[in-house]
Amino acid sequence: MDFKLRCIDCNKEYEREDIYTCECGGILEVKIDLDSINLDFKFDGNNLSVWKYGCLLPVKIKPVSLREGGTPLYNADYLSEKLGVKVYVKHEGLNPSGSFKDRGMTVGVTKAIELGKGAVACASTGNTSASMAMYAAKAKLKAYILLPSGKVALGKVAQALMHGAKVVGIRGNFDKALALVREISEKEGFYLLNSVNPFRLEGQKTIAFEIVDEIGVPDRVILPVGNAGNISAIFKGFKELKELGLIDSIPKMTGVQAEGANPIYKAFVEGKRDIKAMNPETIATAIRIGNPVNAKKALNAVYESKGVVTQVSDEEIINAQKMLAAKEGIGVEPASAASVAGLIKLLKQGEIEKDERVVCITTGHLLKDPETVIKVCGSPIEVDANIEAIKAVL
Ligand SMILES: Cc1ncc(COP(=O)(O)O)c(C=O)c1O
Ligand SMILES: [Zn+2]
Repeated sequence: MDFKLRCIDCNKEYEREDIYTCECGGILEVKIDLDSINLDFKFDGNNLSVWKYGCLLPVKIKPVSLREGGTPLYNADYLSEKLGVKVYVKHEGLNPSGSFKDRGMTVGVTKAIELGKGAVACASTGNTSASMAMYAAKAKLKAYILLPSGKVALGKVAQALMHGAKVVGIRGNFDKALALVREISEKEGFYLLNSVNPFRLEGQKTIAFEIVDEIGVPDRVILPVGNAGNISAIFKGFKELKELGLIDSIPKMTGVQAEGANPIYKAFVEGKRDIKAMNPETIATAIRIGNPVNAKKALNAVYESKGVVTQVSDEEIINAQKMLAAKEGIGVEPASAASVAGLIKLLKQGEIEKDERVVCITTGHLLKDPETVIKVCGSPIEVDANIEAIKAVL
């Protein structure tokens, strides 16, 4: 396969692969020469995984894999009936580390090996760190992580620590941590694995491939948006399939932000492609990001696919999280529930037609954030160890 890195602002192309931004400051994407592809998979609904679509992924060596992808696309029967549209939920929480980040990390860490790097690094609201630590362990690479201290869900910190990464909490938010890790990585020669890394997003585009593999092209894909890599990646996946002539339409890419971390929503409402950075705050710590690096890619994806960006409150997020867990049996972390909260809001606003087929992406597993669960559900009732005491509370 032939590919180049290309700047999304000035279109300058680069042969070298070990850069993240253009000379002009713009972010890069992997431009694949689709004529050079030897398509060796079929959309037959079988054996879904990131590497089923390896012929569309820009790596040259055997991948570092922990069997990522192949996540279930559930028929959300309760939601479909309650809301009157056909709803599917693609549960990315069922990846090896419990989030969609594994799709990107299998490609990103493979690229780190290909480029001869000895160490990888990231800033993270949690899931990137958990995933990177896991894949770095598998690949025998050193892993360095910067987190916003006190603002990362417990399960994610536990994963990063146990998989052997060096984890540093900074007194500052994710955006500050990202600026710092970019600087340190440059100085120390670490391979940066945030979503500014264009190879990571290549892995994440396989979400689009798996959806098409199972149900064809839906009318709309809804997902939470933080640093805005995932929505950009999924759109790129659909676009490549269309350019290859494998599909004829692209779903409306629909992003959902938390009200307290909504720079892309604000830009969308004003019809712009640039965002104003803000100080973020939300219970959905995974998307507590005020200066998303992929904002321009994401807004391009939304405008080009005729989608929308909406915002939801923390209360709407928690209500959707509870509904998914209690009515569909799908356990997700708060940020992931933003997709369903956004669906409910957009239906109320008349933005979504009743005959649409909608896929909501739930990005991370319930167990990632047990502390929020206890806050919103309370602790289990404790009673004496006898039948009467138990019956009294049933
Ligand atoms: C669970 C979860 N959902 C959504 C997101 C947002 O993804 P992106 O930064 O690609 O917009 C993240 C990012 O950390 C996440 O961990
Ligand atoms: Zn440029």
